[in-house]
Amino acid sequence: MRTAVIAAIAGALVGCGKPPAGSPGQDPKNMSEKAGPEGHDHEASKERAFHAQEHEEEAQAYSDHRGRGHHKGHRFTDPAEWTAQFDSPERAAWQKPDEVVAALQLTPAMTVADLGAGTGYFTVRLAAAVPQGRVIANDLEPGMVRWIGERAAKEGLANVTTAQGDVADPKLPAGLDVALMVDTYHHIDEPTRFFGKVREALKPGGLLVVVDFKKDAPDDAPGPPAAMRVDDTLVAAHLTKLGLTHERTDRELLPYQYLVFMRKPG
Ligand SMILES: C[S@@+](CC[C@H](N)C(=O)[O-])C[C@H]1O[C@@H](n2cnc3c(N)ncnc32)[C@H](O)[C@@H]1O
Repeated sequence: MRTAVIAAIAGALVGCGKPPAGSPGQDPKNMSEKAGPEGHDHEASKERAFHAQEHEEEAQAYSDHRGRGHHKGHRFTDPAEWTAQFDSPERAAWQKPDEVVAALQLTPAMTVADLGAGTGYFTVRLAAAVPQGRVIANDLEPGMVRWIGERAAKEGLANVTTAQGDVADPKLPAGLDVALMVDTYHHIDEPTRFFGKVREALKPGGLLVVVDFKKDAPDDAPGPPAAMRVDDTLVAAHLTKLGLTHERTDRELLPYQYLVFMRKPG
């Protein structure tokens, strides 16, 4: 019953659902990933499957209008509007942010990146978990980056810095112990180049954790429609192809999302 109520609320207040009225759209034909010299190795069957699924499902999300206004390339330009969803108190019931942060097994002096940080829902929690360390909050949107900077200042979080990236490069400093990406993987337009840069920024032995929506979550679950969700096995396969080691996938901690744990070889 409680789950049903949460799911009903989440239909309106999803982790990254329908953009606010008036949010700019993007031409669908410009949104598929770009092939190129640094693009995808089409010899790898798993990666082929990954991209085939992405492209097919993206097209499907458009054609059957199940996209709830949600598509891979949609933009998050206005933090003042998105904060109502991202920072909604109801989200904690299914997002369990403290459990997610605990699963990272951070120590107080670590350097951590929050990839696609949005309005800083996880950034502020990560900052509390590494009081002698540092959190780099990355986002594509200048408005989000500015918002997080202001939020960190208001909340007295001196260990938060920001990094405005572009679609193919999060622009992270080297030396990360941990990188966390929540509800963002399915938005990354150029995953091969983007995660190649993440791998470079991680220390040897560093950890990347991707949290995103289960392919088989109920259709009315928070997050994108099923057609846009990326199966956890494809996430792990793609990141393995980029030179990270798949440590484990947790499908139990959260009701609608998985956590994929990838380690940079030491
Ligand atoms: C659904 S929100 C998730 C925000 C936050 N992680 C959370 O859990 O509340 C997705 C965020 O990813 C950002 N994003 C999308 N593509 C990105 C990219 N290539 N690099 C960095 N951020 C990106 C968007 O601007 C948006 O703020």
